[in-house]
This record gives sequence, structure tokens and C-alpha cells, in this order.
Amino acid sequence: MLKYLAVICLVFFSCHLVAAKLQVTPNNERGIKVANGQTAGEHEFPFIVSIQKQLSSGAFEHLCTGSILSSTFVLTAAHCLDSSTTLVVVYGTYDNTCSDNCKYIKVKNQIAHPSYQKGTERNDIAVFELESALPIDDSTVSTVSIDANSIAIHDEESDSSRLVLISGWGALNSNLDYPKKLQKASVPIVKMSYCNNLNLGGVDIEQICAGAGNGRDACSGDSGGPLFRKISSSSKYTQFGVVSTGYETCGATVSRGLYSNTTFYLSFIQTYVPGVSVNQDSDTVNPGDIGTGNTGTGSQIVYTSLSFIVLLFIISLIF
Ligand SMILES: *[C@@H]1O[C@H](CO)[C@@H](O)[C@H](O)[C@H]1NC(C)=O
Repeated sequence: MLKYLAVICLVFFSCHLVAAKLQVTPNNERGIKVANGQTAGEHEFPFIVSIQKQLSSGAFEHLCTGSILSSTFVLTAAHCLDSSTTLVVVYGTYDNTCSDNCKYIKVKNQIAHPSYQKGTERNDIAVFELESALPIDDSTVSTVSIDANSIAIHDEESDSSRLVLISGWGALNSNLDYPKKLQKASVPIVKMSYCNNLNLGGVDIEQICAGAGNGRDACSGDSGGPLFRKISSSSKYTQFGVVSTGYETCGATVSRGLYSNTTFYLSFIQTYVPGVSVNQDSDTVNPGDIGTGNTGTGSQIVYTSLSFIVLLFIISLIF
């Protein structure tokens, strides 16, 4: 009887260790880049912009990613708001280190969702109004539509039948190495429980959990960027989510990300951007396998299997 109790205690202790390892910093906003993705083509996603802040030197520095809803409005995350400095939207380029020859427009109004909660990152969505109109030409600068129908949730992380794209100038890994060129990767939308097993505190319907746990992930700097797909019948794209928050070590094998569900927030968006286009066409393109992964080689996985071996060893000592 004592032996059984000991085993139960050990199992509990081991699980507790694994759970402790998976704890995340609750307020892990993603200000920056796609981990384990690949470089996007020039003008491949003409609706994606780099939101930058002006430093005291006068130079601009990437803060967040955003998407163009209309000639004067950009969609991003509420945690990207920064009223302490001038923000600009750099458009028409996939290289955001354009410095002198950057094409940019100043942000006039930063409008966060009225119920945005810092920390829990609920309602992490915002629209930025620009000082003047973007030169929409549909090839180098274009708008994105908000999808009226939510994309199906995968029951299995390995089901690649309905992948979506993420893209941004966020960090390439958790060491915060930033790219110059826009990155892209494909990820599956999965059940919220996958995010909440990492203690991300995601809320169904309001938020979307995405990632196969294969290292492909949004990272610091991708924040505010889109979760999207191409519409089959046109050259345009439709957006499902906004990069919000995620696991502390973006790009780790276990990592997944939380996105604000733009279909859910459509009425908030329409309040400020009545002209936003809404996509009703559910026929969208599966982007397929885009990006690299480091499946099965993360420290988290090693840790888990190591504690299992230690547990087996202790059990063999008891019996
Ligand atoms: C996103 O919001 C829409 C509208 O509320 C909802 O129907 C859909 O299920 C949500 N998507 C997810 C993945 O929760």
C-alpha cells in the first residue's frame, strides 16, 4: 500500500515539475517577428505595414506589425499603442530598414478597443487612423478584408488541411534577433485547450489559438500583424486574427500563439472604419507548408522525457 502511495506521489511530483516548467509570463505581449518562418516576397503581402516609433535621434524603429483596412485606417493590437512618441506606418515595402527612403505616413489617432485589458490581453485590438491617405494601387499597397466566416478549428495539431498564414517583422527567435525583411509561416488554428495547456489564459470565440507546436510561431514584433489567407477567386487576402500574445519562448517546440479573433471584433472595426471590406467568400487557399520547424528537439521535450526516465528509475528502486 505504501509503495502505491509513493508511486502516486512521484507521478504527481513529476507532473508538477513539468507543469512548473511550462509556466509562462502572463503579460507576454508580442511586439516584434515570425520564428522559424521564411522571407516573404517583395510586395507579396502589400496590405502589411510596419508600425514604427520615432527615436530621439529622429530615426524610426519597428514597434509592431499592422494591416491596411482602408486608405486611412490600419488594424493592429491594442498593446501596440504608444502615445509617448510619434508613430508612423511604413508601407509599400517588405524591407523595413529603408531608413531615408521609407515611405511613411504619421498616425493621427490610436484607438484601442474600449475593453482592452492589459495583462490578460483580452480585447487586444486597435485601429490607427492616419494623417493622410495611403496610395492604394492594389499591387504595392492594398487593403485586406476581414473574414465574415470563422475558419474551422483543428482538433489535431498535425492536421494540415486548413493552415493559415502569419507574417511580420517580429524577432526570429526568443533571443530577439530582428529581421530586416518581412517573414511568413503557416500555422494551423487549433482548439483553445492547446494554448491553455501553456497557461496562456485564452478565451474561446474572442481569441484564436494557432500553432502546431513545431517551432513556427509569432514572436516579439509580430504583434498587431495578421492571421490570414488568400481568397481563391481573387488576388486579395482575408484576415481572421491579430497577433496578440503567446508562450514566453516563441519558436520553442511547444509554443503556440493567441490571436484576437477579427470576425468577433468586426462591429468594433466597423464603428471606426465603416468602409472596411468584409469577405463572405469561404473559399480560401490553403497556404501549405511554409517555414521551417524544429520538431522534437526543444529543451521542453528533453526536460519532459528526462523526468520520465528519472521517475522510472525511482519506481524500479521502490519495487
Ligand atoms: C471568431 O468569432 C466568430 C464570430 O463571433 C465565431 O463564430 C468564431 O467561432 C470565432 N472563431 C474562433 C476560432 O473561435
